Formats: sequence, structure tokens, C-alpha cells
Amino acid sequence: MMLKNDLILRAARGEQTERTPVWLMRQAGRILPEYRALRALLSGFKELVETPELAAEVTIQPIDALDVDAAIIFSDILVVPEAMGLTYEMVEARGPLFPETVKSAADVARLRVADPEEHLGYVLEALRVTKRALNGRVPLIGFAGAPWTILAYMVEGHGSKTFSKARRMLFQEPELAHALLRKITDTTIAYLRAQVEAGANMLQVFDSWAGILNPQHYHTFSASYIAEICAAMPADVPVTVFAKGAYFAHEDFARLPCRTIGLDWNEDPRKVRPLVGDKTLQGNLDPCALYGSPDQVRAATIEMLERFGPQRHIANLGHGVYPDTDPDRVRVFIDTVKEHSLRMRQD
Ligand code: CP3
Repeated sequence: MMLKNDLILRAARGEQTERTPVWLMRQAGRILPEYRALRALLSGFKELVETPELAAEVTIQPIDALDVDAAIIFSDILVVPEAMGLTYEMVEARGPLFPETVKSAADVARLRVADPEEHLGYVLEALRVTKRALNGRVPLIGFAGAPWTILAYMVEGHGSKTFSKARRMLFQEPELAHALLRKITDTTIAYLRAQVEAGANMLQVFDSWAGILNPQHYHTFSASYIAEICAAMPADVPVTVFAKGAYFAHEDFARLPCRTIGLDWNEDPRKVRPLVGDKTLQGNLDPCALYGSPDQVRAATIEMLERFGPQRHIANLGHGVYPDTDPDRVRVFIDTVKEHSLRMRQD
């Protein structure tokens, strides 16, 4: 299947593009009325994630509604711990919950390295259905959580500001942490490779809790496993690593065998560029900028684009779009990227 729009793949590979590609983290979700309407008919989040035809439908909604340059498969990073044997619940208005957590070597021993077709077949089927329905309109992004971020949920059991149970394990029982990270990494490598076979054109690794680690722990317990994952991917599939809050880890980023580094809104791309070689950068508008007036959104977007420069940039927010954002402001953001990035190439 030939892609009609491969801007994001070319930008990720570091090739020249005629304008800057744009998509939004969490673009498939509650900002769209068509998502909320479908979601209201279902028993919950997991039904949506586990029904390939429905997951495909909400994956494509933002392509129709927002005209973004990529689709990201509708799923969650927490399907991986579930495939390994630790079931999650998505509690309405509160977030993820693991009724059982990992506390001991026996708990780690009980977990399996998941087989993608057997334990995550519903995601792979969603990718196949989406791929067919997209008919080459835009590339499809597959994803997984970084092993450290997955460990954090498996040990803590739910979201947390500090994830102190998870960080405590790194200090008190580093060998246990490594044993768990090993199983998560092996599962993730097989899972992401299977996503590519099912139709993913590029991949993103979300390390949402990178920023709470000290630099040494980040290097040892997170970046090293992400590097292994990147190295195990097919050479022609660009990988983006988004490690939120890891402004102390630019040297680790530079050495990762991935093409693109995602930046959150605390980072200045002008400072990061010279530190990461020829990698492409993704990001990084503050999601709160989208609460402004259309003129304010336009101005903030233009300022962001100028900081990244015209090439080797994939425009995005610095984290997922907040659920109460007005889709019209999202459209202003997207249109401004498209128009202004053309202008940047003319003068
Ligand atoms: O559009 C997309 O980006 C694709 C879908 C996607 C979801 N989760 C759907 C979702 C992606 C890429 C994720 C990744 C994810 N999930 C991350 C990494 C990115 C990040 O935000 O840092 C994390 C940490 C999770 C875990 C998770 N899932 C949390 C903490 C929550 C609750 C918070 C929230 O946003 O409600 C979820 C639930 C979730 N995942 C929702 C969606 C659309 C909302 C639930 C709903 O619709 O009922």
C-alpha cells in the first residue's frame, strides 16, 4: 500500500520535507465529540480497546476531524502488563488500577513474557483493520510504554505523583527491578515487532515517568532498556522516544538508536538540537496553550515552530492533549503548523 502522505516518515528519517508534519498525543480520545458518543454506548474503556473494529474507528476519527498527518493506534500502554499476567482496570474519572501488584521475586517469576498474537492479538487485529480502512491516507503509529514506566505501574498499582514504591525498589532491590525490566523489555520487543508486521509504519515509546528518576537510575533502569528495544526494531521503521521530564538525560538520548526524540514543553529545542546530533525532534507546545484565544494559539504555535526550525521537526504538544480542550483550538494549532511551516521554507 502506497502512502498518500508520508511527511512524518520523511521528517523522522531526517529527510527534507515541504512542510512540517503534525499530530497530537492523545488525539484519539475525549476531545472529540464523536469519541465520547461512541464511548458512552460501551461498558468502558477496555471494551473499546479490546474490540478491533471500534479501536480502528476511534483511531481514524482524528484523521477525519482534525486532518493530522498520522494516526496512532487506539490502545493503552497498560495492555502489556496485562498480557504478562497482571490485569488492569480503568476506573472512571480516576485512571488505571492494578488490583494485584509486583512485590517479590515470586511475583516476577509468575509473570510471563507475553506472546503478541496470543496475548495481544486484539491490538494487532486493530492495527490490521485500521490499516485497511486508512487506505494509505496517513502513516499509522504503533506504541508501547517504556519498561521503566510499565514497571512503575506494576509495582505502584495506580498513578502517583512520586511512584515511591517503584523508586524504592530501584534502591532496595535493584536485581528484582532488573528481572522485571527484563521480562517487560522482552515482551515489548516482540510486541512492537508484531505491530510493525500488522501495519505500523513508525513506533513511539512512551516513558511518561522518566522525569522522576535521578540521572544514574534513568541511565541504568530506563535508557539502557529503551536502547535495547530501539536496536531490535526493523531498520526501516523510525522510532520516537518520548521521555517526559528527562531534561537531565540528553546524552542518553543522543546515544539511543532511535530517529526521533520527543520533547515536553519544559525543554527548549534550540538547546536540545546541538546535543542530540542529527536526530529529529518532536513536540512541544504546552497543552495549556490550547486554552487561549485563536490568536493566542496561533502566536504560541508560530513561536514553537521558530524554535525548532523548518526541518527535522514533527510538530506535536509537549504531552497528551487535555480532554476539555476545544477541538476548534486544536484545528487552529494544526492549520498554523501547516501554513507557517510552509512560510518558513520560503524566506
Ligand atoms: O490518541 C492516542 O494517543 C492513542 C491512545 C492512547 C491512550 N493511552 C488512550 C487512553 C495512548 C498513546 C495512551 C498512552 C498512555 N496510557 C500513557 C503514555 C502517554 C502519557 O499520557 O504519558 C500512559 C501513562 C497511559 C496510562 C493511562 N491510560 C492513564 C494514566 C489513563 C488515565 C488518565 C486519562 O487520560 O484519563 C489512561 C486512560 C486512557 N488511555 C484514556 C484514553 C483515551 C481515557 C480513558 C477514557 O476514554 O475513558
